[in-house]
Amino acid sequence: MRDSTRRLWDQQNRHPGDRLRLFSAVRTFVGETNVLYPGSFVDVAASFVFDSVTYVDNNRNAARFFADTSGVDEIIEQHRVDTTTAQWRFIGADYETDLDVADHSVGLLVSLYAGFISEHCTRYLRPGGWLLVNPSHGDAAMASITPGYRLAAVVRSRSGNYTISQRDLDDYLIPKRPTEITREALHELGRGIAYTKPSFAYLFQRTTD
Ligand SMILES: C[S@@+](CC[C@H](N)C(=O)[O-])C[C@H]1O[C@@H](n2cnc3c(N)ncnc32)[C@H](O)[C@@H]1O
Repeated sequence: MRDSTRRLWDQQNRHPGDRLRLFSAVRTFVGETNVLYPGSFVDVAASFVFDSVTYVDNNRNAARFFADTSGVDEIIEQHRVDTTTAQWRFIGADYETDLDVADHSVGLLVSLYAGFISEHCTRYLRPGGWLLVNPSHGDAAMASITPGYRLAAVVRSRSGNYTISQRDLDDYLIPKRPTEITREALHELGRGIAYTKPSFAYLFQRTTD
């Protein structure tokens, strides 16, 4: 493995096992499915638990990291929770462009700290598929106003552990300040909305085309 690959992974994994715990909880809830992870940077923890993941990023260091395919395989093998081999690929591109991914072909779309992924990549998600999204860049709010998504669960984080809950979902995604949430307002704001009852992340299910 290249030194730079190791270094980038160590930085990414500076709270050791954090993302493994997150993706494990999500995998238990949604089941095995194929994953699209736009704005992934070098977060290969999705491949520790899911068998097929497509990573997308337009960052040069991310491209360099994924170009070290044996290094990436080594990291995945070191952490993988079962003995089967994970399939992964990297697309070095802007996720706002047409990706080499078929529409309606993905079971889980991941949106963590990387902008309005739901706006550009929902087309790849099949009906019944899942969107894992956190609120920090406003994408959870974007999903909450996008027709064809329903809030299915919240992902709560406590002391580095993640739990997924379907209780009292109506209590979530309520802005602290009464504001009209629109696409334009979210773009202008460029960050998340403060909610009365916050959660680390949300799982939306795509109900329709
Ligand atoms: C803050 S990092 C988050 C990385 C990872 N999702 C995580 O949670 O650890 C944001 C990443 O999104 C990528 N990104 C932002 N906008 C993008 C775009 N339009 N197309 C592709 N990648 C993008 C950046 O290059 C960066 O690597």
